[in-house]
Amino acid sequence: MFIGLDLGTSGVRALLVRKDGTVLHVADADLAVAHPHPGWSEQNPADWINATRKVLGDLARMAPDAMAQLRGIGLAGHMHGATLLDSDGAVLRPCILWNDTRSVDQAARLDTTDGFRALTGNIVFPGFTAPKLMWVAEHEPDIYARVAKVLLPKDYLGFWLTGKTVSDMSDSAGTAWMDVGARGWSDTLLGQSGMRRDQMPDLIEGTEIAGQLRGDLAAELGLPQGVVVVAGGGDNAAAACGVGALGEGDGFVSLGTSGVLLAARSGFSPSPDSAVHTFCHAIPGAWYQMGVILAATDSLNWLAGITGTDAATLTNALGDQISAPGTLRFLPYLSGERTPHNDSAVRGAFVGLDIAHDRTDLTRAVLEGVTFALRDSLEALKSTGARLDRVLAIGGGTGSRYWCNLLATTLNLPVDLPEQGAFGAALGAARLAICGVTGGTPADIMTKPPIAETILPRADLSAAYDDAYGAFAASYPTLKAMP
Ligand code: XUL
Repeated sequence: MFIGLDLGTSGVRALLVRKDGTVLHVADADLAVAHPHPGWSEQNPADWINATRKVLGDLARMAPDAMAQLRGIGLAGHMHGATLLDSDGAVLRPCILWNDTRSVDQAARLDTTDGFRALTGNIVFPGFTAPKLMWVAEHEPDIYARVAKVLLPKDYLGFWLTGKTVSDMSDSAGTAWMDVGARGWSDTLLGQSGMRRDQMPDLIEGTEIAGQLRGDLAAELGLPQGVVVVAGGGDNAAAACGVGALGEGDGFVSLGTSGVLLAARSGFSPSPDSAVHTFCHAIPGAWYQMGVILAATDSLNWLAGITGTDAATLTNALGDQISAPGTLRFLPYLSGERTPHNDSAVRGAFVGLDIAHDRTDLTRAVLEGVTFALRDSLEALKSTGARLDRVLAIGGGTGSRYWCNLLATTLNLPVDLPEQGAFGAALGAARLAICGVTGGTPADIMTKPPIAETILPRADLSAAYDDAYGAFAASYPTLKAMP
């Protein structure tokens, strides 16, 4: 038995999986995000541990016999977060998350440092880890002086589970401290952002063993002794493992808190100017490229929050089928944007509000706006030479049939809906653990999921959606020019 543990932005998920990859049980625990100032986004690592205790405890109650046969745990988690530890391993401040944009000045400085983009293969976005540490150095020097290790969120869970500070290539590629082509920490990049190699965790491939589950923790959680923890991957790389997106032509679209359009790549071919991310895959010898938008279901949840309802009520009101796009445009830049704009200062907007518009019109505009932003990512990915023949759709937003239809027609790609749509990153983490423990190859273990249904683009609507996308794209410069 294996567990895939996915530390998501909105909750922790644990998946109990058999060696053959069959999912037996799933347990979830919610997490909150604090926004103490505009542009800030933080979580308390102690909450991750409480949520992890809960999901592991739930699995132990649901399936005591299966849990007694547990051999490995694989990790996945939201990327880029800075978890700062002192020399005793104590957490120094709340973790600064991937969608936090406070370090915009520091990111711009690093991004324009000679050679930086060439080594990392990426723009240094404010959400990445390196500029966060520079912000801490400038604004919280006492804390900065005590930083003995910087861990990514899932690696902090790994530290709690094993006592070892270890990270994998795919997650570490998002720090801006890594030579992504060479798959190793770069002393040049570390030095230029005021960090040292000894403050970094050990770096291994996502299929390698990070350590053994601590004996005392195993006893406390009712787990067997000798369970190993496998390094795993950043959530997007792990999700790619979960849906078998390992090589050229394979990819997925994810409607989670963030929105992601990902294409697996067999080589390292960075294209930082396109604002596409180029990171190591969680499996050895592979990379991937992706466009990232910062607020996908976050935009819908925001609308649900301010209209006093929930996301499902909003999307249910739209029904399943799409018709010609509305005239109301939504620009989903609630937390700024990464691909294609690299603009943490821009903020969202509704354009074309009419007195006749109601809540359902706003919902439709939000779903369209997020989908058009993903079309921006598709155009950016195409410019790098990445190929996507079709995409698998994963993430909470795929619960809306309307949204999936919108994706197929707006991206003009067949959209596959997997039977077990929601298991992406957690299943990928479990599969990485299976590889690590059994020595199985990714190609054998990380097969593509059975597809429940394929949604085809609506040819009769594609011209109308192309026009609406054009209007969406044309609104950004106006928004950018606003004070
Ligand atoms: C990727 C990114 C997000 C987070 C949260 O660069 O920032 O997708 O990993 O899921």
